[in-house]
Amino acid sequence: MRMREVAVTVLAAILAGVGWADVASAETVSLRELAQSRGIAFGSAVSAASLAGDASYARTLGSEFGVVTPEDAMKWAVLRPARDTFRWGDADAIVDAAVANGQGVRGHTLVWHSSLPAWLTGGSFTTTELRDVLKEHVQTTVRRYAGRVKFWDVANEVLNNDGSPRAGFWLERLGEEYIADVFRWAHEADPAAVLYLNEYGAETHGPKADALYALVRSLKEQGVPIHGVGLQAHLTGSSRPDQLPALLRRFTGLDVDVAVTELDVRIPVPVTPAGLASQAEVYRQVTAACLAVARCVSITVWGFTDRRSWIGATYPGWGAATLFDDDLATKPAYRSVADVLTRTDPNAPVGHWPLDDPAGTVAADVSGNGHDATVRGAKADGRVPHVTAFAGDGATTEASTGAPVLNTDGSFTVSAWVSMYSTGVPGVVASQDGETRSAFYLMYQKSTGRWEFTVPSADGTEVTWLTARSASAPVLKRWTHLTGVYEAPTRQLRLYVDGVPDGTRDGVTAWRSTKPFRIGRSLSGGRFDGAISDVRAWNRALPAGEVTGISDRTVAAWGFDNAAIDSSPFGRGTSLNSSGATYDSNALKLDGTGCAEGYGPALRTDRSWTITARVNLAAKGAARTVISQSGTVRDAFYLQYHQSYDRWAVIVPSADATGSDWQQVLSTAPPALNTWTTLSAVYDAQAATLALHVDGVRQGDPLPAVKSWPSTGRIHIGCSGTGGRFNGLIDDVKAYVPAA
Ligand code: XIL
Repeated sequence: MRMREVAVTVLAAILAGVGWADVASAETVSLRELAQSRGIAFGSAVSAASLAGDASYARTLGSEFGVVTPEDAMKWAVLRPARDTFRWGDADAIVDAAVANGQGVRGHTLVWHSSLPAWLTGGSFTTTELRDVLKEHVQTTVRRYAGRVKFWDVANEVLNNDGSPRAGFWLERLGEEYIADVFRWAHEADPAAVLYLNEYGAETHGPKADALYALVRSLKEQGVPIHGVGLQAHLTGSSRPDQLPALLRRFTGLDVDVAVTELDVRIPVPVTPAGLASQAEVYRQVTAACLAVARCVSITVWGFTDRRSWIGATYPGWGAATLFDDDLATKPAYRSVADVLTRTDPNAPVGHWPLDDPAGTVAADVSGNGHDATVRGAKADGRVPHVTAFAGDGATTEASTGAPVLNTDGSFTVSAWVSMYSTGVPGVVASQDGETRSAFYLMYQKSTGRWEFTVPSADGTEVTWLTARSASAPVLKRWTHLTGVYEAPTRQLRLYVDGVPDGTRDGVTAWRSTKPFRIGRSLSGGRFDGAISDVRAWNRALPAGEVTGISDRTVAAWGFDNAAIDSSPFGRGTSLNSSGATYDSNALKLDGTGCAEGYGPALRTDRSWTITARVNLAAKGAARTVISQSGTVRDAFYLQYHQSYDRWAVIVPSADATGSDWQQVLSTAPPALNTWTTLSAVYDAQAATLALHVDGVRQGDPLPAVKSWPSTGRIHIGCSGTGGRFNGLIDDVKAYVPAA
């Protein structure tokens, strides 16, 4: 086959959902085409000099990338040699080539603290004059390219890493208002342009990501025309961008698009195979992150060949940050990007709604299949405090997609976490509409008092109800995992509660429904009274082992393998707060001055929880906190070494007040120093008991009548909210709900 035919065949195979193994070679299809087939654009920054003077560079840019960003050509220093002069040559050349090539253009950038000409920074302007200069620059530039430059990085890098406004020429001279002004001026000049705020270092949870979120929210609230947030993503081979999907989704909750705008992944030079492999993994994760977020519209790399990249000059000792080497041969990173763009995993859910969207009006489908659901009426009640969930009222609430998600006449599976408030109404967790019936109902059935997974025999009024039913009644206000499986070949329905088989029904024939998928109600009503979280749907019958996997109750997990990353599905940001906190032998090493702090809480402390950690105490002599979660004046719990008793202790203060009782359980023996010990603390909200286990042995009887309260402060590992810093090693900290 000739190249073009191969490309077309491969693309057709991809679009038909054929897996990667079935296609011959990815390199015959460009990233441009692969990305387009997945509904996103793949772009690159472009150097005007290379485009003009390097034919193979221009060829690869044209074939591999669907959108281009002028790397420097539209910056003030290039565009504005003098107050009264615009030098359009480089920018025009890039835009003209892109248009000729059918590529989109991202303009970059209208206002930035860097790359400013001396006549501007050294000139003497009044505030009014300077505003005029800026407005003129913005509007002249945007107008010139109206219709050709669809996206603009309007404002670039306006924040410091601690989240404060970034000091620089524009802030100093015009005040914070300059940001909103530039967006308004750009919008005036081209109302059709899609306007972005662009930032670096906001790819992980932390003060900068929080501040960027707050800034975008405030701009939206003021009615400023901002349409997108760009995360630059200048990363290294040891970056772990696993929080990126959650961060991107958080912005889309503010009703803006998101994009990865300047991706590169630098590695130490000289290059090693291990370096290239780590780089490929980071490119893979970033690509997958964008695909997992419905409103992530593009990924742009900051240069595509190591022959021409800003990294070498900017980061001594680093390099080789791009997808193609000096000779324009593809690197492992290229292949991993192509692989992610190609792979439609036949095992992946066809719909997946975490129900953690901050605004709570759209439930984003993170499966990549675009089945976002519109939420009506529901409030939030999360499995953990900062993970919101759909909270139904049993009467008016629901979420529904625009189109069907499941092929209900073949095998399928639906799962969800639920916490029911009352048994007063029949409550549907998930369903998919037919004409007169839903094709299935995963629900609480009031008349039987049980969880049920039901398929009616037909889409009509006279039907037989075929049901797999749980053996026992739901426990109210306790997070429960439900899975309904329909296995077409055996015509069997299976219901799992908390990952355990709990009822089957044979002789079922499901039928194909072609209407929307619903969360929290069925076609005819049956609204759920309670919270629903993390709904997933598959076009296959999940085997029992996989059902166990998705019903895992871990809500936080820190392995401290050279990173303070929460590897649970909640992916929390955590940072080491001083040089007294480091890593050693894949554990957290603390010298009594540092600790690891989360950016928020990890547990609903008024509900049941279990915490486990491995600890190795190096010094006593003071309170040594392993883990705690802050309130205002107290922490909601402390798992710690208690110096007055010389014992391990788990402590739950009875209130967030100075006069509260210390409800505590102590270990029976003093801790040994420099010895690995496993600690588990278990709070059971139903029984109101608190227990401590050391190396798997419960220490005395559980403490009864324990009062708890909901804290919303930070999770701390190695200290409490007030001090009590650990000295030694902490490893494998995990939290589960409810009590194990
Ligand atoms: C860089 C260019 O790549 C270099 O050629 C130039 O010398 C300096 O600027 N964040 C941005 C980009 O938004 O504009 C920067 O580009 C890289 C960091």
